Amino acid sequence: MSDRQPLVQVRNVTVQFEDRLVLDNISLEVFAGEILCILGESGCGKSTLLRVMTGLLPPTSGEVWIMGQNLWAVPEQQQRQILRHLGVLFQSSGLLRSLTIAENIALPLQMYTHLTDLEIMEIVRLKLAAVGLSGSEALLPAELSGGMQKRAGIARALALDPPLLFLDEPTSGLDPVTAASIDQLVLEFKQIFGTTMVVVTHDLESTFTIADRVLLLDRHTHTIIAEGDPHTLRNRTDHPAVYNFFNRLAKLER
Ligand SMILES: Nc1ncnc2c1ncn2[C@@H]1O[C@H](COP(=O)(O)OP(=O)(O)OP(=O)(O)O)[C@@H](O)[C@H]1O
Ligand SMILES: [Mg+2]
Repeated sequence: MSDRQPLVQVRNVTVQFEDRLVLDNISLEVFAGEILCILGESGCGKSTLLRVMTGLLPPTSGEVWIMGQNLWAVPEQQQRQILRHLGVLFQSSGLLRSLTIAENIALPLQMYTHLTDLEIMEIVRLKLAAVGLSGSEALLPAELSGGMQKRAGIARALALDPPLLFLDEPTSGLDPVTAASIDQLVLEFKQIFGTTMVVVTHDLESTFTIADRVLLLDRHTHTIIAEGDPHTLRNRTDHPAVYNFFNRLAKLER
């Protein structure tokens, strides 16, 4: 693994909200072309970590390096340039309720490019087709099902063809068939476009389908307690917290 260049490096990141410690001295790397899943119980800080990595929340201390640049130390203009390379799906899909699906997906294109309205609409059409939502341009988010909203959120995250995609709970709240179709979409992006992805999830089935590597965050120590191939971690009988996480969750899901 050492011969691979990390696209993202999180170095000694700590996040504290007033007197509440959420992440304690977290370090991790994301390598080009991989799907890294971040796992952990509810409230352990997965979304917080993603927010720090995607320019939404400055860490209390520590650094985030993206493609060789120190995200939280560069001037604002340069930070914007870095963020242009990231696609983000928020946990709640993050679609603006008063805008149509097409307008939502057009937002990053209007923000970061000088394309004409016609060119933007063509890209919107292509992205909607890529996530299987052709024809839903004029609908409002509320008119879509939960799974379709996730897809629309992914289409928006893909608008600028980002080499790096961050997905926060892409399959949560979905039925198993819809969840599996999102997993297939994720695998397709990896295979066709070589997109590097960081996926926050508590869906073990999805993890086993898509992850090249996983990190397990712990709510009590606020640290990463395990890292590696999910199939190997599942059988770590020498590490009770890791074993319990994979096996207790597996039981709950059935
Ligand atoms: N802006 C904030 N101010 C204060 N506390 C916060 C803030 N954001 C998150 N927290 C707290 O940090 C902890 C981690 O939250 P986070 O949303 O990162 O967890 P999570 O692992 O994503 O959980 P879930 O699986 O439920 O989405 C929680 O205790 C939460 O209440
Ligand atoms: Mg979360």
